[in-house]
Amino acid sequence: MPRILWSVGATVLAIPALAHNVTILSDAPVNQEIAGLLVWVLVFSVIVFGVVAGALAYTVWKFRARPGDDELPPQVHGNDRMEIVWTLIPLLIVMVLFVLTAQTLVKLKRPVAGAMVVEATGWQFWWDFQYPDEGLRTAGELVIPVGQTVEVRITSGDVIHSFWPPSLTGKADAIPGEVNRLQFLATKPGNYYGYCAELCGDSHANMRFRILALERQDYDRFVETYRAYTAPEPISPLEAQGKELFDAQCAACHTVKGTTARGVIGPDLSLFGLRTTLGSGVWENTPENLKRWIRDSAAMKPGSKMPAFPQLSDADLEALTAYLYSLKLDGFDFAQLPRY
Ligand code: CUA
Repeated sequence: MPRILWSVGATVLAIPALAHNVTILSDAPVNQEIAGLLVWVLVFSVIVFGVVAGALAYTVWKFRARPGDDELPPQVHGNDRMEIVWTLIPLLIVMVLFVLTAQTLVKLKRPVAGAMVVEATGWQFWWDFQYPDEGLRTAGELVIPVGQTVEVRITSGDVIHSFWPPSLTGKADAIPGEVNRLQFLATKPGNYYGYCAELCGDSHANMRFRILALERQDYDRFVETYRAYTAPEPISPLEAQGKELFDAQCAACHTVKGTTARGVIGPDLSLFGLRTTLGSGVWENTPENLKRWIRDSAAMKPGSKMPAFPQLSDADLEALTAYLYSLKLDGFDFAQLPRY
């Protein structure tokens, strides 16, 4: 009996927690839509739970064995009317939920005119973001404007991944050779967490991303300055030494806009100094983490395709980080964005 009480208690306690979750998620329009649907599911579940648990409790109490009850009670075999009723009611509930779900799905999948298009490609274990209309590219962190629907066209360069920014929308699989679409809208500026939601290898759990939503005018300024951007020339001997090392060691795989570094195997590092995270949204972008990352990324992220560089001295790492942090646009600091 105590075990049953525990289960019932846990279920009852879980309901407000779920409702709370729904309110957290309900900020974005897509989630309001889904939250509305969830409320219906919740209402039906609570009613069904109440009726079934109530009937069970009543039956157990009413027909319990009493002292002196030695004989079996009359045995009942089937009751057509009851069976029809308890088949029809769930059928009706499922049909209502089906209609509501279909309505929501149609609403969510309807193309929004004037949506901003972004192409997201999953790789083991990071995300590449291209902005075809703006002619821009970022990695690990997708920059979008607030208040405009964004259509992400999702695909993969290797195995199946799944693109999931839970506080903005649901998920869509990234499948090689196919494009799945996901539309969402951020209502307020912020640094929104994203995850890969499909087991894709050793570092599936380390394959995250961020969506940086900026106010419209900030986003427009971002696009304008990034379009005109070429990596700044090193302003110190340390940065110059870092650039030299970068060109020798890193340029075959990474791009830095406006330099001879044009590699496309790894993430685009043109705006590395602006990134809030490294290693695909997993670690804070600090010099300590960056140095550890460059020296042996696979030690931080199993399965990382980036080779280790044990031959780099501490002074080399100092120079490389100085150069990488110089790669940014003036007047932007994404670290200020609230995180969701
Ligand atoms: Cu990519 Cu899991």
